[in-house]
Amino acid sequence: MTSSPIFQNHKQKLSPVWPHFTQIEVSHAKGSYLFDSRNQPYLDFTSGIGVTNIGHCHPRVVQAIQRQAERLIHGQATVVYHQPMLDLVTELEKVLPTHLNSFFFANSGSEAVESALKLARQATKKTNIIAFQGGYHGRTVGAMSLTTAKTIYRSHYQPLMPGVHIAPYPDPFRYRGVSPEDLSEWCLQELQHLLRTQTSPEETAAMIIEPILGEGGYVVPPKNFLPRLKEICEQHGILLILDEIQTGFGRTGKFFAYEHFGVEPDILLIAKGLASGMPLSGVVANRRWMNHWQKGSHGGTYGGNALSCAAAAETLRVIHDERLLAKAKTAGDRLMNRLRDTAKYCSYLGEIRGLGLMIGCEFVDYLNYSKQYIAERVRKECLKKRLILLTCGTENHVIRWIPPLNITPQQVEEAVNIFEWALDHALKEGV
Ligand SMILES: Cc1ncc(COP(=O)(O)O)c(C=O)c1O
Repeated sequence: MTSSPIFQNHKQKLSPVWPHFTQIEVSHAKGSYLFDSRNQPYLDFTSGIGVTNIGHCHPRVVQAIQRQAERLIHGQATVVYHQPMLDLVTELEKVLPTHLNSFFFANSGSEAVESALKLARQATKKTNIIAFQGGYHGRTVGAMSLTTAKTIYRSHYQPLMPGVHIAPYPDPFRYRGVSPEDLSEWCLQELQHLLRTQTSPEETAAMIIEPILGEGGYVVPPKNFLPRLKEICEQHGILLILDEIQTGFGRTGKFFAYEHFGVEPDILLIAKGLASGMPLSGVVANRRWMNHWQKGSHGGTYGGNALSCAAAAETLRVIHDERLLAKAKTAGDRLMNRLRDTAKYCSYLGEIRGLGLMIGCEFVDYLNYSKQYIAERVRKECLKKRLILLTCGTENHVIRWIPPLNITPQQVEEAVNIFEWALDHALKEGV
C-alpha cells in the first residue's frame, strides 16, 4: 500500500495520540466494504467499531441526510424543536419498554455516560457510582473514571473523578475452573460486601454496566448475573444504568442486549449503531427520574443535531424493514459455528464467545508466544488479505468480529477462510 508524498506529509501532522491499526487511505465505503484510494476493497469486520450496523452508506440513510441537509442542518435543542428529533423519539419508542419514555440527546458515547452520571446524581440526591471490572465507558474524565478495561485509558490522567467504586465482573473464561453460576454468585457477594464496606446504599446513586463487555474483551456474563444485579439495585434504591452503546441496535441479534437477560435498566445509554456514523448518543429514562434533572443544568450545543437525528430515525426504520435482527442472529450463528470449528484445530485459540454479531476469539499463550502477540499477528495477517479486524481485551488478546448486521453468508465464509489462513501463517512469519 503506497501513499502519495502529499498524503504522507499530511499524516505526519495528525496527533500521535491516535494509534492507527491500518494504513488504509480510505476513499469511500459501501455495505460491508471500505475502498482505498486505488479502489481496492477491504472487507470491514469492524463496522467503524460497532457503528455502521446497517452497512456503510446505506442508501436510505444517505438520502435521509441529504434531504434533511436541504431543510435544516442545525436547530439548537434549547432554542427550537425540530422534526427529525421528534421522529427519532417516535421510532425509539417502538423498540423500548414503555417506562423508558424520556429522552436526552448528545453527540458521543462518552457524553451520554457523563450525562447519565449527572442525571443519576440529581435524581437520587446521592453521589457515588459503582462500575464493573473490565468495563469501558469512554474517555472524558467521568467516563474514564468508570473505565477499567485497560490501564492505558487511565494512566497519567489521575486524579480521576472521586466517588467511583469498582466491583468484579464475572468473566467465565478468565476464571475457568469455576462454574459460571458460582462465579456469578461470588461477584454478587463481593458487590454486597462493597456496599457494606466502601459505599453504602444511602450514598450510591447508580451502578453502571455493559451487558456484554466490549472493549474489555467481548465477555458475556453468566445468564443469572444481570437479573440478580437488578434485584440488588431495587432492594437498595440504586439506579441501574445499562451502557448499550456498543451492544445496542441489533448487534447481539436483539434490539438491545438486555433482552437476552430479561432485565430492563432505569437508565439506558445509546450511541454508535444509533445513527449509522453520524455523531449522536442518547440517555433514556423514566420521566420520573428526568423530572429531577434541573432544567438548564446540563446540555450542549450540538446534542440531537438535526442531520444525526434524521440518520438515526431512518436507521431504525431500516433495521425494522430489512428484518436485520433476524439476519444478525442467523449470520451470528453461522459465524460462531465456523469459528468454533476452526478453534478445534488451533492450539492458541482459547475460546470463541459472543451473542449475535458481537463475537470474540480469545487467544492463549502458546510455546514462547504471548496471547497478545499472537492476536496482533493474526490481525495483521488478515489485513494482508484485506480483511479488517480489531482486537480488544485487557491485553489486546481477543479478536473481535463486528460486521454489519446484513453481512452475507458468502462474506462470512470469505472472512473465516482468511482468518484460518492467518492462523496458519501468523507464527510462521512471526519467528
Ligand atoms: C460500551 C461503550 N461505552 C462508551 C463508549 C464511548 O463512546 P465514544 O467513543 O463515542 O465516546 C464506547 C466506545 O467504544 C463503548 O463501547
